[in-house]
Amino acid sequence: MGYVGHRGSIEVLLGGLKRLEYRGYDSAGVAVLTPDGGLGSAKRAGKLGNLTDELSAHPIADGQTGIGHTRWATHGGPTDGNAHPHLGDGGKLALIHNGIIENFSELKAELTERGHTFASETDSEVAALLVGEAYRDTHDLTAAMLAVVNRLEGAFTLLAVHADEPDVVVGARRNSPLVVGLGEGENFLGSDVAAFVAYTKQAMEIGQDQLVTIRPGSVEVVDFDGNPVESRRFEVDWDASAAEKGGWSSFMAKEISEEPDAVANTIRGRVTDGLVHIPELDGLGDDVLRSIDRVLIIACGTAAYAGMVGKYAIEQWARVPVDVELAHEFRYREPVLSPNTLVVSISQSGETMDTLMAVKYAREQGARTLSICNTQGATIPRESDAVVYTHAGPEVAVASTKAFVAQITACYLFGLQLAQVRETLAADAVRALVADLQKVPDQLRDVIASGERIAELAHWMADTRSVLFLGRHVGYPIALEGALKLKELAYIHAEGFAAGELKHGPIALIEPGQIVFVIVPSPRDERSLHAKVVSNIQEIRARGARVIAIAEAGDVAVLPHADEVIRIPLASPFFEPLLAVVPLHFFGMELAAAKGLDVDQPRNLAKSVTVE
Ligand code: G6P
Repeated sequence: MGYVGHRGSIEVLLGGLKRLEYRGYDSAGVAVLTPDGGLGSAKRAGKLGNLTDELSAHPIADGQTGIGHTRWATHGGPTDGNAHPHLGDGGKLALIHNGIIENFSELKAELTERGHTFASETDSEVAALLVGEAYRDTHDLTAAMLAVVNRLEGAFTLLAVHADEPDVVVGARRNSPLVVGLGEGENFLGSDVAAFVAYTKQAMEIGQDQLVTIRPGSVEVVDFDGNPVESRRFEVDWDASAAEKGGWSSFMAKEISEEPDAVANTIRGRVTDGLVHIPELDGLGDDVLRSIDRVLIIACGTAAYAGMVGKYAIEQWARVPVDVELAHEFRYREPVLSPNTLVVSISQSGETMDTLMAVKYAREQGARTLSICNTQGATIPRESDAVVYTHAGPEVAVASTKAFVAQITACYLFGLQLAQVRETLAADAVRALVADLQKVPDQLRDVIASGERIAELAHWMADTRSVLFLGRHVGYPIALEGALKLKELAYIHAEGFAAGELKHGPIALIEPGQIVFVIVPSPRDERSLHAKVVSNIQEIRARGARVIAIAEAGDVAVLPHADEVIRIPLASPFFEPLLAVVPLHFFGMELAAAKGLDVDQPRNLAKSVTVE
């Protein structure tokens, strides 16, 4: 984050970093230009609280220009020395960096030869020293940054301040996010709008390979050749309070409670006369939607599981082949793509580097690209032909919950519109499905209201070392999501399996007392999957498993076979994942809480992974 204006910058920076902390939280630091014309900086390993304590114990003189950083370590462990900012030009320049400078070894050797020594093990310090050197030649921070950015390879957002330019912050970006917040007599830079939304909702995008210079009364953007560029402005569509915990015990508790709204808001404005019309798809055009002969969904983590649910629905309704692939695997296997392939990326942040690189690759290969994204102004939507925003609102807890149900909802809407355009579903069939989908938010409210039993179960299981999850059809990705949440939040070994796959291997894991969650398909499902999954339950119970079934209201057939049944309301079978996942989100959160863990910021993770 960067600030220049009329306020005390330390408070602005610490407030912004608090909101950005979900992006990385293994160290933090600030640098400010002090009233006496110097530069003060402080940095500490660990969460932001350590930096705040340090600043209380050893205050630095506050000024009105500064930069601040929270880190997710790549090169060099999370130590005080490796925390940002890094200094250059004899301590007069401070620089922060997100990303990875891939040619840092060569640059480091070059700097060492010129007599520089290094205070850290990071790739980032190389940039600080290079910009410091360039400043000595140019005496202009913008010119110094321009001179250096073209020498760096890899991904970076860099922000720098220099003691000789007291009202300037310069930022540069390549493959890593950066947005400007436009204030009155003050301006902001941030990895995302959360950094400054408490002060201004007016924002400006910074494009790829662009450099921005902010002063209290001006914002100038140039490309890496120094040519001025026009930048798109936008208004942030949520308030600072939306990204605050309010009275909740954690952001995750708040965000799970917002799952009904996330679904409702993603549907809103996209249903006309009972049929789906996503205005953002107009840019792609019905001819394109008709001509595509393949859909490829690319994503990482939770978003990929949302894509898997989407696959079942889109393929079934629109009769077009759909594949789902992890973005990092897709990118490097030279996939076969054509102009009739629609590559759909799913990303909450819109910044995940693995997904971004996959989208760029798909475009280079001539495929059409559609982004399903939760964050305005993010990079992936900008690099795509069209974007369908999920309107889940800002998601702060590192592990995704409400964005997941919004992503699934966006996939359903997309699948239904595709089916309408391709005439693979009759209008009445679409209307019936849309009507069912519109009931889901209220049904979700019912599921959330029954969260107490899950909390009891989780507390009772606090010492559990292994949990398995089984699902079939659209329940399979939900099993994977349930397992991922337990790994992420409670550090418990957990696996999700397709129930039909059980007998081909995983059943060997079953021993007396093994806890298995089973997502039971509806008995109303025409494919008789219910009976098959109930047989699977019997197979594992015969071997001593303790079964917790998630089953729809009125499913009595499952009762004799489960140790515990968690009920979800009756929904169209395709929409059950939205309901079945909520108890699993609760379970992960409650188990982590029972173990005394930080559910919002689990160890080793970051919310936006902006490195490959
Ligand atoms: C990280 C997060 C996950 C998230 C994944 C994809 O690994 O820890 O919770 O699912 O990134 O993030 P995205 O922003 O692309 O949806």
